[in-house]
Amino acid sequence: MSMTIVPAGGAGAYVTGVNLNEVAPPELHQMKDTLGQYGVMFFRKQDMSPEAHILFAEEFGAININRFFTPVAEYPQIAQVLKEADQKKNIGEAWHTDHSYDQIPALGSILVARELPKTGGDTLFISMFAAYDALSDDMKSKLEGLTAVHSSRHVFGKAAYLAGKDNELLGRLGNTDAATQDAIHPLVIDHPFSGRKALYVNPEFTVRISELPASQGSELLEELYSHCQQDDFIHRFQWEDGTVVFWDNRASWHKALNDYPGERRYMHRITIEGVPLV
Ligand code: SIN
Repeated sequence: MSMTIVPAGGAGAYVTGVNLNEVAPPELHQMKDTLGQYGVMFFRKQDMSPEAHILFAEEFGAININRFFTPVAEYPQIAQVLKEADQKKNIGEAWHTDHSYDQIPALGSILVARELPKTGGDTLFISMFAAYDALSDDMKSKLEGLTAVHSSRHVFGKAAYLAGKDNELLGRLGNTDAATQDAIHPLVIDHPFSGRKALYVNPEFTVRISELPASQGSELLEELYSHCQQDDFIHRFQWEDGTVVFWDNRASWHKALNDYPGERRYMHRITIEGVPLV
């Protein structure tokens, strides 16, 4: 079996010819290259136990035990991404990249489908490489040297729930007192695996641009967000039994569609620690 990488439309790449339960060192190497070039890897026809999921993740770095998500019973390393049939809200419905509020943001996450709705529940991905590449030269120079503040407070803190915004998520998400992270990162980063430039702001966790007055910073962020959401940079991934997705937070945004009322969707997510961003 030899591993094949086929670029997906918009963002990411489909990876075939590999069994994630027994990945050899050259394949791991190729996967890191793939993340550094495409930002997301889509795998089909896998059969991964929670133990195998943990072992595969550990090949890329230490596992981040999520502060806010409910863990899977007996597997604290695995976070539940769950929507029960009688629940209205899903987790991750807004465009975001995980953990940008951490001083050293997570490398990425590996999501394994455990129970899927009959239809719907796709996940959308945007390539932050493609979004950066398509910026005008003027915009690229405008962004040079700028940094942004990212925070977990307004999303996972008590205030978010008190505002009534996400009350129904309490129980699946929690530990609101732990939402104390603020971090400053460059707006444009060099990807740690490939050196490719990527935009590093996201609508969920980025709160302002450090060097600009608030209104000017918000205007610039809105301009960048609408630039990023062009169809050309988006891949819509349809889940089926046996699918696994590995996204790199330094090169992508994602968003889980909430279009399967009355059905259960249950995923296992492991997040892997990253490195400081430059
Ligand atoms: C997430 O944002 O981690 C969840 C993505 C998904 O459920 O598809």
